[in-house]
Amino acid sequence: MNKNYALITGSTAGIGLEIAQELASRGHNILLTARREDRLKDIAQQLIADHGVHADYVVADLGDVSAPGVIFNFCASNEYVVNILVNNAGYSINKKFHETGEEEEEKFLRVLGLGVIALTKRFIPGMLQQKSGKIMLVSSLAAFAPPATGWGALYGPVKTFVNRFGDALNLNYRSQGITATNVCPGFTVTEFHTASGMQDAMDEVPSFMKKDSKTVAKGAVDAMMKGKSVWVPGALNKMLAFLCNTLPTSLVIKMSSSLAGRRYE
Ligand SMILES: NC(=O)c1ccc[n+]([C@@H]2O[C@H](COP(=O)([O-])OP(=O)(O)OC[C@H]3O[C@@H](n4cnc5c(N)ncnc54)[C@H](OP(=O)(O)O)[C@@H]3O)[C@@H](O)[C@H]2O)c1
Repeated sequence: MNKNYALITGSTAGIGLEIAQELASRGHNILLTARREDRLKDIAQQLIADHGVHADYVVADLGDVSAPGVIFNFCASNEYVVNILVNNAGYSINKKFHETGEEEEEKFLRVLGLGVIALTKRFIPGMLQQKSGKIMLVSSLAAFAPPATGWGALYGPVKTFVNRFGDALNLNYRSQGITATNVCPGFTVTEFHTASGMQDAMDEVPSFMKKDSKTVAKGAVDAMMKGKSVWVPGALNKMLAFLCNTLPTSLVIKMSSSLAGRRYE
């Protein structure tokens, strides 16, 4: 039996769920992880029924420092070999920086940043042994943009950090058969904005700026399989990323305010 698996964090909803479905439809065995066990169980059963692959799950809160170890030990004890790692889990804190507790920010950085490093660190040795591996880092267009007011002071900065981490992985491991792909979506219709208490702001974003999670997931998986370093979904988002990288920050903030309203007020 094929012991190779794709491990996808945050696979109970949105982009992560669609990535799991996309990879399963291409014949990959799937390991799901997130906090909601009922969903994980149902999704794993559905993937097996729909695609004839093997699928399993492990419940973990990536805000806990022990979570990456729990996930790794689960894979090791079942002899699951992770040759595709999708670091996707994420959310946003819809509060001003001075309104959050330090613990809240630490947990946030663990889910979006430190957990990404900890999981990658644990699974890279196995990939090096196989001389091949695919790593996806689900980042954001916010990685290129100036930090916004409405979605927490650390969201943009941690996504920029994730992109730089992906670049470092490519520099260090591409020659050994392992590639990292920074996926940088713009506004995508998922549970993200409701879960982060930002649905009102999302509702104000013009529909031409929004993408559906299935389209984002398919493009992300294509980009990862081709070993691309960075992928931004859609022509408009690509143009915005380009402008963010080239225009003066003050102009980008003005432009973002007119497009994304209250987030830059
Ligand atoms: N939607 C957008 O507009 C957008 C734009 C750019 C980038 N992104 C990025 O895309 C990624 C996926 O977001 P999404 O839009 O698909 O959001 P989503 O629909 O809310 O899904 C988020 C996933 O992350 C999991 N998760 C959240 N907190 C977790 C924790 N503490 N431990 C473990 N799992 C956790 C959730 O599962 P449980 O609740 O079951 O744990 C869920 O499966 C995130 O990294 C986000 O920053 C989203």
